[in-house]
Amino acid sequence: MSTDDYKRAAALKALEYVTDGMKVGLGTGSTADHFTRALGEAVEDGLRVIGVSTSVRTEALARECGIPLVDIDAAGQLDLTVDGADEIDPDLRLIKGGGGALLREKIVASGSNRVLIIADEAKMVPQLGAFPLPVEISPFAWKTTSRRIRDSLSRFDVGNVAIALRRNKNMSSFVTDGGHYILDCDLRRIGDPQGLAAFLDTLPGVMEHGLFIDLASAAIIGGASGVHIIRPEGSQLPLL
Ligand code: A5P
Repeated sequence: MSTDDYKRAAALKALEYVTDGMKVGLGTGSTADHFTRALGEAVEDGLRVIGVSTSVRTEALARECGIPLVDIDAAGQLDLTVDGADEIDPDLRLIKGGGGALLREKIVASGSNRVLIIADEAKMVPQLGAFPLPVEISPFAWKTTSRRIRDSLSRFDVGNVAIALRRNKNMSSFVTDGGHYILDCDLRRIGDPQGLAAFLDTLPGVMEHGLFIDLASAAIIGGASGVHIIRPEGSQLPLL
């Protein structure tokens, strides 16, 4: 089985948690795409749901799949969001934003009763940070914001400090759906994710960052030994 098969297996498992009448947040990325397609097939078979997309790209796919969509402002609180991740630690803290949709992903996840993270087993890590942390920033004064971040990173027990402005293949600046830039922060190790998240939450010019803490209700992980569900320690919230 390939990594893509593992992603698809996790996505199909997540579909079991979708019931008739739900408002469902639709994540962004190759794993979330598997879920969107599977949800589209279920809608074709008669399941009634309303989707809320986390990116322009997912919105286009959901439309193609025949999933009725509403704007998050019209949807209100969502029942469930299903999304991928770039890294997942044992406490279900995440790095997200490899696909550049972190701002909308975090808004949608934080407005959902439950958040299921779907991923292949390679996304599970003992400690966050091998994947460069995406930080979405205002284009205005982006170099100043970048410098302020760089000058503070060592306070958060990181293994390295290297920041790069995300670029497209033609070297133009990558621009998010919200019109912002992304800094990819290569830290190798993030020893204090809570502290770093709190710092970035308050820094002017930072629109959002890819540390998702206390947002995941469960991670559904596909791998060589099948699909496993990981819950945060002590979590009592039923998944259905
Ligand atoms: C999108 O902005 C990210 O948060 C994705 O969830 C993440 O990059 C996972 O993508 P894949 O499912 O393609 O690995």
